Amino acid sequence: MSTQDIGFRQNLELTNVRMHPLVFVLVMFINCLTCILYLCFSSGRYIENHGVIHNIWFNTTTQEKKQYYMTQFVDSYWDNGSLPIWITAQRQGLKAGSLHFPGTAATYRKEIVRVRQVEPRFFDHSNETDWQLNIDKVVGEWFHQQDLDFVSLYFGEPDLVGHKYGPDSPERKEMVKQVDRTVGYIRDKIQQHGLTDKLNIIITADHGMTTVKRGGTVNEIILSKIPGFSFRDIKFHLVDYGPSGMLLPKEGKLETVYQALKGGHPHLHVYKKEEMPARLHYSKHPRLLPIILFADPGYVINGFLPVQFHKGEHGFDNEEMDMKPFFRAVGPDFKKNLVFAPFETVHVYPLMCHLLGMKPEINDGHLDDTKGMLVPKINPEGDGNEMDTQFQVVIGLSAMAGFLVLVFIATISNAWCKRSRAQNSSKLELTAGEERKDMKQTSF
Ligand SMILES: *[C@@H]1O[C@H](CO)[C@@H](O)[C@H](O)[C@H]1NC(C)=O
Ligand SMILES: *[C@@H]1O[C@H](CO)[C@@H](O)[C@H](O)[C@H]1NC(C)=O
Ligand SMILES: *[C@@H]1O[C@H](CO)[C@@H](O)[C@H](O)[C@H]1NC(C)=O
Ligand SMILES: [Zn+2]
Repeated sequence: MSTQDIGFRQNLELTNVRMHPLVFVLVMFINCLTCILYLCFSSGRYIENHGVIHNIWFNTTTQEKKQYYMTQFVDSYWDNGSLPIWITAQRQGLKAGSLHFPGTAATYRKEIVRVRQVEPRFFDHSNETDWQLNIDKVVGEWFHQQDLDFVSLYFGEPDLVGHKYGPDSPERKEMVKQVDRTVGYIRDKIQQHGLTDKLNIIITADHGMTTVKRGGTVNEIILSKIPGFSFRDIKFHLVDYGPSGMLLPKEGKLETVYQALKGGHPHLHVYKKEEMPARLHYSKHPRLLPIILFADPGYVINGFLPVQFHKGEHGFDNEEMDMKPFFRAVGPDFKKNLVFAPFETVHVYPLMCHLLGMKPEINDGHLDDTKGMLVPKINPEGDGNEMDTQFQVVIGLSAMAGFLVLVFIATISNAWCKRSRAQNSSKLELTAGEERKDMKQTSF
């Protein structure tokens, strides 16, 4: 899709927006492969390290699969060794909340986020009135009245509409306007409650989206048509979920399956799990199946027949420009009118921990990659130690796919040095007192 289309013009002056959503489709509820990316924000870990794979819970023995909504209540799916930031915050004496953010419903090592709202089973993710009611709750009740330190907030658009109509569609552009209005609504609410100088807001997305190629001349990927490949050799598969898939061959069939698929379609990439390019961080976890597939931009992987109808997809190689989301932040701790170099999503976690004055869990991010966007703090005593200043930080995370908002208040104060790191950046632009940045998807 073109990235120069609409953005948060009115409220964030964002001119380079991409979308992604949770997917609804015909008969069923299909989920975004990359919801797993949410945990990259909340834990700062790559997928192969946090283990929340594919947005789908599955059991290769029983063949059972749970779609995204139901996985939310499978604690062991989420609690696989990494803690989301809200649990760590609570353990360190902060008050955290989460509204609709993936992973909100789960219990992690016996602990749940104390202030939370999980969406109902059949939730209309696009209702602007509901968005506003949720913002009223987060800002008016959770921050203002209950004095929380951190809130993560998620909106399922424009991901859904992007999947359904395509990222370049008028419907998706309308939805971006709705997101734009909502960003304005968040900022107005924060102002009304006198929190503007206390809350830091981060708005970002977990992935981009690209248009699915379809029609007469498109050579669709249909695994069952690839010579030498047979589903009879497969014990368990996750295909028909967009551009990526995984296969568990039957005993003794790994090589047969691999050799048949490798080179079997010009737009299909086939890897043994351990051979996956390291940059994708998608090989080490036991939940990843032995054969991993992904398609070239615009192609989706079908099993027996072309059964996918999305016009927009994500889950492609994160080097693709179309897969990259945006990042913007505003608040007392962020420099204004700064254009920053691209960074990976995992680096948002140490940034948030820093703003909250929290000690991070082990993670894959580095504060060095993001701290250049922060206003240097001068310790009046000049000893470089922590100051006692208290202030609140609101972090709003909005996903172009979904629209995530994280809000938090922090008791922080570090003397951080003023160093802006310029990395090789691709087109970033700075606007109206905010900062924006293209981030990489942390996985595909
Ligand atoms: C899958 O199901 C089998 C058989 O019921 C069970 O032994 C195994 O623990 C399950 N695995 C997971 C990951 O739930
Ligand atoms: C993560 O899940 C896998 C299987 O689903 C399991 O074998 C492993 O023990 C889990 N790890 C942790 C730390 O929960
Ligand atoms: C949107 O949500 C509001 C508040 O929950 C509800 O009253 C309204 O009927 C919804 N609108 C639509 C079109 O579903
Ligand atoms: Zn999606």
